[in-house]
Amino acid sequence: PGLATYDPGFVNTASCRSAITYIDGDKGILEYRGYPIEQLAEKSNFLEVAYLLIHGELPTREQYDAWVHEITYHTFVHENVKGFMEGFRYDAHPMGMLMASVGALSTFYPESARIEDPENRHIQIVRMIAKMPTLGAWAFRHAQGKPYVYPDNELSYAENFLSMLFKMSESKYAGDPRIVKALDVLFILHADHEQNCSTNAVRSVGSSQVDPYSAVAAGIGALFGPLHGGANEAVLRMLRRIGTKDNIPAFIEGVKNGEERLMGFGHRVYKNYDPRAKIIKKACDDVFEVTGVNPLLEVAQELEKIALEDEYFVKRRLYPNVDFYSGLIYEALEFPPEMFTVLFAIGRTPGWLAQWLELTGDKEQKIARPKQIYTGDRGLTFVPAEERW
Ligand code: CMC
Repeated sequence: PGLATYDPGFVNTASCRSAITYIDGDKGILEYRGYPIEQLAEKSNFLEVAYLLIHGELPTREQYDAWVHEITYHTFVHENVKGFMEGFRYDAHPMGMLMASVGALSTFYPESARIEDPENRHIQIVRMIAKMPTLGAWAFRHAQGKPYVYPDNELSYAENFLSMLFKMSESKYAGDPRIVKALDVLFILHADHEQNCSTNAVRSVGSSQVDPYSAVAAGIGALFGPLHGGANEAVLRMLRRIGTKDNIPAFIEGVKNGEERLMGFGHRVYKNYDPRAKIIKKACDDVFEVTGVNPLLEVAQELEKIALEDEYFVKRRLYPNVDFYSGLIYEALEFPPEMFTVLFAIGRTPGWLAQWLELTGDKEQKIARPKQIYTGDRGLTFVPAEERW
């Protein structure tokens, strides 16, 4: 009884009002708090964008300096968190480790449960943005059996992350400003994307008024899934399989015959070029200037050219999405595929937290509790086991 609209996957149901991110999928527009992503990627930096997402407006000089200072000085995590992470199996997936350790932070900061207190909300937001690269880098070092590297608060956000991953002395690229800038831009591009699966998870869990660490841990779980955070890895596998440009026509025929999908193409919302893909293409050039060109870039570019001229893709409005080129950059920087989604999670953290903050201040919000359309039996008579068997 009672009316229910059947909308699996909430394809046509708005679950909230939000003033954070605007997308026009037909025109290929993405804006954070009204600012076009192209301008932010070119002229801002990740921590300024994080401030914008969380606070709703750009910082003054004093606000920016205070924000960067706060984030920088919260990058360390409690030694017991380190011990907790060291307890994972040698082959633990870094996303599993990240999800668990972010969830565990709620036990280190029990006051985070007082979500009605604005100062308390602020400090937890700062902590999470600050500690995410530390936890992500340690999960990576764990898989390699290498000692964890502590944060260096003299470094910028992206630089510090690279230093904890690779240790400046071990990496050819970690200190290069072009690599640092490219990583910062990738974080900006991933920072928010309105009500995607993981953000919806953060809001849904957050609507129970749990602490933000538990809500964000749920978001990390959602991002872990291959339909959400894992597509860039699939693109890379596809490009490797195609191998050289001469194999592209046969591959495209296979896609058109429905044998497989062209990974990194198509989007539920964008029916035009994903604006993030354009920016990543440019970042590829900058990164490859340092690392040397990833030989698969040629295959990707040719594949894109052929697909964009082919009637199958034109008719269905299939264009490259954010994942088409990002995996090539990550591979050139020597990240193993399991780390790709961790990079996504670090970038998405300010977006998750901005959405959580908006949720906590929204008087119209109720606990997330969708309806269902019941399809099972009713009114059966229970027969005890000894009479049934
Ligand atoms: N290759 C070949 N055909 C495709 C593709 C593709 N990548 N994407 C969609 N189509 C076809 C599909 O077969 C269908 O054709 P028809 O009308 O003949 O049945 C039509 O286009 C519409 O597809 P759909 O599956 O109804 O579209 P959707 O909005 O449900 O799916 C998508 C969107 C992203 C899941 C899909 O385009 C896809 O699987 N792409 C490849 C995976 C990928 O790159 N995912 C990353 C998404 S961006 C990351 C993020 O923001 O989270």
